Amino acid sequence: MPERHNTVMTGKRHRRGCTGIIAALSFRDLSIMSALYQSSLSSLPLIARGKVRDLYQIGTDHLLLVATDRLSAFDVVLPQPIPGKGEVLTRLSQFWFGRTAHLLPNHLANVPVAAVITDPHELAQLGDRAMVVRRLKPLPIEAIVRGYLIGSGWKDYQRTGTVCDIALPRGLRQADRLPYAIFTPSTKAELGTHDENVDFESVVTLIGRELADQVRDVSLAIYTDSAAYAAMRGIIIADTKFEFGLDEQGRLHLIDEVLTPDSSRFWPADQYQPGTSPPSFDKQFVRDYLETLDWDKTPPGPELPQPIIERTADKYREAEERLTQDR
Ligand SMILES: Nc1ncnc2c1ncn2[C@@H]1O[C@H](COP(=O)(O)OP(=O)(O)O)[C@@H](O)[C@H]1O
Ligand SMILES: [Mg+2]
Repeated sequence: MPERHNTVMTGKRHRRGCTGIIAALSFRDLSIMSALYQSSLSSLPLIARGKVRDLYQIGTDHLLLVATDRLSAFDVVLPQPIPGKGEVLTRLSQFWFGRTAHLLPNHLANVPVAAVITDPHELAQLGDRAMVVRRLKPLPIEAIVRGYLIGSGWKDYQRTGTVCDIALPRGLRQADRLPYAIFTPSTKAELGTHDENVDFESVVTLIGRELADQVRDVSLAIYTDSAAYAAMRGIIIADTKFEFGLDEQGRLHLIDEVLTPDSSRFWPADQYQPGTSPPSFDKQFVRDYLETLDWDKTPPGPELPQPIIERTADKYREAEERLTQDR
């Protein structure tokens, strides 16, 4: 793990080795400066705060989606921010929206944030955290795709030999690559409750067969295409979750965030070893730490030690660097 304590985050990209007063500050000082737990904009009406995102209304049919630095684990929002996380999530989502647009339209409105927020203090607060999107009608499901056997999929498989009623070969180990990627949807839970894995027929009941087929097929296509790209960058996308919304004509769009370390498990390919839970660039690191505590996974979440916060911030940034930076 490279030493990153002199990393400096600015409103744009973080840089190493800056000069002047900023270089004299420790990572911790800068973390506090650059973290955003909750946004507060007075130029737009706030319509909702999710676990991670704050949503503001723009006119009648657009939203400003602000990814804060909040971290949720086991569906509980932890009390401290992870500095820079919201910016990583937003930049990575934008990157993937661009790379997957040939497979499905998405909610990006192609309107710069500065066109809707003009106050310089509010713009500085947002940094790279915000995007202007079309307000669409979210489908009531989470479209999960798994290429590897881990997490709740591994748990289900050990118990039943299946994942979401999809039969799999016998004898698979934890973190094994599946013979083919599988679609294992869940229902979208209200704040404070847990998502529930469901079988494909339950999705058909919720949204109709035609749409369910389309969601499954496009989810698998986006995962497969993106996982192949990530593999070239030394990252295994073990699994991921997509969200979809419909426009007024009923056309399917990719919404929310896409292929980020919050919505996916990213593993460094060079350290991958089936039979164990691999190291990762996502919040698995925090989950593993929380599992060592005597915490019943109900709110309020526990405070994280500073080194855990810093390493988590590093991991998110490393995922972005590996996936998006020119080499
Ligand atoms: N284009 C969109 N139109 C309407 N709702 C959206 C759009 N993109 C994302 N959302 C919704 O905004 C919310 C994002 O906030 P987030 O903190 O990620 O929520 P959650 O706590 O459900 O994970 C989600 O409820 C998501 O479904
Ligand atoms: Mg979310």
